Amino acid sequence: MQAVVYLNGERVDYKDAKVSVEDRGFQFGDGLYEVVRVYGGRFFYLDRHLKRLNKGAQEIYLEFDFSLDNLKEICKKAVAEGGFKDASVYIQVTRGAAPRQHHFPEKSSCTWVVIAREVKPHPKDFYENGVKAITVPDERWTRCNIKSVQLIPNCIAKEKAKRAGAYEAIFHRGGIVTEASSSNVFIVKNGKLFTHPANNLILHGITRGVVLEIAGKLGFEVNEEAFSLDKLFDADEVFITGTMTEVMPVVKVDGKIIGDGVPGETTRSIIEEFRKLTLTVDQ
Ligand code: PDD
Repeated sequence: MQAVVYLNGERVDYKDAKVSVEDRGFQFGDGLYEVVRVYGGRFFYLDRHLKRLNKGAQEIYLEFDFSLDNLKEICKKAVAEGGFKDASVYIQVTRGAAPRQHHFPEKSSCTWVVIAREVKPHPKDFYENGVKAITVPDERWTRCNIKSVQLIPNCIAKEKAKRAGAYEAIFHRGGIVTEASSSNVFIVKNGKLFTHPANNLILHGITRGVVLEIAGKLGFEVNEEAFSLDKLFDADEVFITGTMTEVMPVVKVDGKIIGDGVPGETTRSIIEEFRKLTLTVDQ
């Protein structure tokens, strides 16, 4: 199934969807993005993604020249027009095209793109038996709460994971676990959950937030507290969260077995609740 693309509010053919060579997203990584998941035609917390996008724009002084309502409407149109049931919607907004100068152009209009496409869910085995991860130093800047399109360190980390036969690369800053290349990280120890606080060193994942809500509902104690690599290896359970990752158990890190080497009870109960939400949430 062909992806449906909207460029600056207009539907364009996938093959004709092009942006300027002087786009600041291309030249400087001067832009933001979101990835939103659609289940059975229902958007999974689109409003939360748009809110984060808007907050990121304020952080980098990016003024939208379109409304979030319009963007939302186009996301919905793209999925409906594609006839997609299980889909991902990629949103990117840049400061637009202008002759190359570091400072912001005095006059430019945003380049904004919506790409909706059908997604094939990850193999069931990933969720039932868990995946492997590696650890890598977190070499990113210190404003990781901004979902900027500058993703080179994330891409290198993910490539390292792939070459090591792992699904994900977990970042640590001086031995403190932050998050992963495209997901947030949780550990479970003695029935308690730990995850890095939502500060400038991690992306405030929408799925992370959903999991915190689920954990609260299930009565688990959650500590938004930084933890070390030693704690990661010593955890009873490890799992990662993200829009495309969903809630995925990690059973081996750097070749070391976590807990019993199988997805733990806590992780499994969170996955079960998460699945239920994917059947109902539409906002
Ligand atoms: N990545 N941390 C990082 C560094 C991420 O890139 C992502 C998401 C997350 C999880 O955030 P959320 O739950 O809001 O998806 C955490 C997206 C999916 C991507 O880059 O494709």
